[in-house]
Amino acid sequence: MQDVFSFKDKVILITGAGRGIGKAITKGFLERGAIVYGTGSKQESADLINAAGANGRVADVTDPAAMPTLIDEIVQKHTRIDCLINNSGVSSDTPASFFKEDEIEKILNTNVKGVFRSCQAYFKTHRKHGGTIINVASVLGFVGIPLASIYCASKGGVIQLTKALAIEWASYNFRVNALCPGLIDTDMTSRMTGKPDLLNKVTASIPLKRLGQPEDLVGAALFMASSASSYMTGQTLVIDGGMIAQ
Ligand SMILES: NC(=O)c1ccc[n+]([C@@H]2O[C@H](COP(=O)([O-])OP(=O)(O)OC[C@H]3O[C@@H](n4cnc5c(N)ncnc54)[C@H](OP(=O)(O)O)[C@@H]3O)[C@@H](O)[C@H]2O)c1
Repeated sequence: MQDVFSFKDKVILITGAGRGIGKAITKGFLERGAIVYGTGSKQESADLINAAGANGRVADVTDPAAMPTLIDEIVQKHTRIDCLINNSGVSSDTPASFFKEDEIEKILNTNVKGVFRSCQAYFKTHRKHGGTIINVASVLGFVGIPLASIYCASKGGVIQLTKALAIEWASYNFRVNALCPGLIDTDMTSRMTGKPDLLNKVTASIPLKRLGQPEDLVGAALFMASSASSYMTGQTLVIDGGMIAQ
């Protein structure tokens, strides 16, 4: 019987693969035989990705030329990318009334425009044979919290972008879905996990009574990239320990 979760010789491109959720997902695909290209914004990240057994590349998603250039390079070498995973993202803890223009621009450029540019470059190079895209959004694309107004807006934008592209490109045999993590223990949440009182309070409010680990996202990413989800497009898959089910 064919193993739908074997990714032997499949080509996967994942942004933000050097740490956190992207690092765990990269490992998951490597363990299942995939050829993985992973990016970061700096050489140090590319080195870490290479050391993990993937192909590390520097591609700052806020640079409009970076992802199209990388996608062209991979297609030249392998003829296709089976799945693009837009995982890079940034956040901040900023009161809405304190946001400055450069911080607003950084979050929206990385989290929304960066995702869109990658999707666009992937579509342009794969429109003849189709493709699979996973955009990493967030539960904060559904619910709001204090100090995260622009981040929430950006992740809501990623969810809507995912739905719109799924519809527009369905006839080209593209599937576009969004993966929505809850609170995951990574550098991004270290501002919170470093404060024991706050961490205890937050953990108590999660139905499964723990923060997610980056590895908790791997199964969902494999499913969304595989033929096991071949009839799924324009959807969001929430992995949050029950946080927003309440
Ligand atoms: N942790 C959570 O609780 C949580 C919850 C919901 C959603 N998410 C989302 O999950 C994704 C991964 O987050 P994480 O928790 O793993 O965060 P993280 O540990 O802070 O990692 C962020 C990743 O994004 C990359 N990145 C940031 N700016 C970039 C840029 N301009 N160009 C290319 N890469 C860039 C970083 O690479 P460099 O180090 O090279 O800059 C890094 O690999 C993000 O989209 C985040 O919004 C996280």
